[in-house]
Amino acid sequence: MHADRIIYHIKSIYTSEQVPPVKGKSMSLIKEIKDGFIAIKDGKIIGIGEGEGDSYIHSETELIDAHQMIMIPGLIDSHTHLVHGGSREYEYEKLQKGTPYLEILNQGGGILGTVMHTRNASFEELYHKAYHSLDLMMTYGVTTVESKSGYGLSFEHETKQLRVNQRLNDHHPIRVLSTYMGAHAVPKEYIGRKNEYMLSMMEDIKKIKDLELAEAVDVFCEEGVFSVDETNMILEHAKSLGYQIKMHADEIHPLGGAGLGVKLGCSSVDHLMAIKNVDIDLLAQSNTVANVLPGTSFYLKKGYAKAREMIDRGVALSIAGDYNPGSCPTENFQLIMQLASNQMKLTPEEVLTAVTINPAYHLGLSSSKGSLEVSKDADFVLLDIPNLTYMLYHFGINHTKDVYIKGKKVVSDQKVVKSL
Ligand code: NIG
Ligand code: FE
Repeated sequence: MHADRIIYHIKSIYTSEQVPPVKGKSMSLIKEIKDGFIAIKDGKIIGIGEGEGDSYIHSETELIDAHQMIMIPGLIDSHTHLVHGGSREYEYEKLQKGTPYLEILNQGGGILGTVMHTRNASFEELYHKAYHSLDLMMTYGVTTVESKSGYGLSFEHETKQLRVNQRLNDHHPIRVLSTYMGAHAVPKEYIGRKNEYMLSMMEDIKKIKDLELAEAVDVFCEEGVFSVDETNMILEHAKSLGYQIKMHADEIHPLGGAGLGVKLGCSSVDHLMAIKNVDIDLLAQSNTVANVLPGTSFYLKKGYAKAREMIDRGVALSIAGDYNPGSCPTENFQLIMQLASNQMKLTPEEVLTAVTINPAYHLGLSSSKGSLEVSKDADFVLLDIPNLTYMLYHFGINHTKDVYIKGKKVVSDQKVVKSL
């Protein structure tokens, strides 16, 4: 087969070739192709290996010299609160002085502050703000993003957020997956009437399914937010309607959310800073992926999830950014990876598995994304570094040179390529 485009003189290509979910020790199995090439046709990979890919070349093939750069698969950020109004720097001092995150929420701030900003923002304002964040994420090598609602907390404003996701997916090169998270907090107008809010959410979950505005449902299972029983009720309902289900679990208090997530068949359980040991074993025996969010631990000055121990005990782990205005205000996904490496003590190979093939798996995309293999989408990042470890060692800066999505260059020399 003849390629539209071949990139050659790649110093090393690093990719997982494991069948996901990649668990425990297998997470360190990363293939390194030295002095390699990648051949692309119609946005898909048609050849990858050592050498210059001569057999894929014909007169029209565009040949791109990578000048000994490193290549990895496009990064997958599988947990973000991308679409929101405003920012929360007004809470920065409170957090610095040690006011607990949940106390700020209980005082009507935190998530509920962003709910107010998001309700007051127009569709266009939300769209342009999120589009800019996606551009920034892409310059760091991100090619797929999961984006949750949860700052509208009413049918009108939740669907406004979800429609922003839909339009971003149609107009931005990044693949955007949409998750409904009405169960992020109880909105002010329902305080003291949580059961009624639950009932209205159950109806909205059905309506949003009919409108095809979300592929997954997420719940913030936490003391003072949604209990284990309430989470169970919402997610059972969502599952019966054919949604993928997931959960913010055991973030602050060890309620056993991760164990419930395994029982329900969640695609991922996320955060897990306070996970119980018994639930680590349950996760290891399941296909539910533990999605850890080290940027949130860093920003909130909380302990990190026991990611090292989880991998050692056989869990499939992924790492996500959790970009949001309250607990992780950054689009720098490479910093998130560096925190996972430095603070959670994951190896470079484990980190790569955790931001490529494992998140592709729990987002339901692993047949087309998450690794550089023939027939998958040609989503990849060229990095100006000597080896994979260097990316995690030299922290806080952007190592990306170029980014490709479906075979098309979308970032060149760290700048977004604007299509005309
Ligand atoms: O994943 N924990 C709940 N939700 C978000 C934070 C949202 C916010 O503070 O605005 C999280 O950390
Ligand atoms: Fe989150």
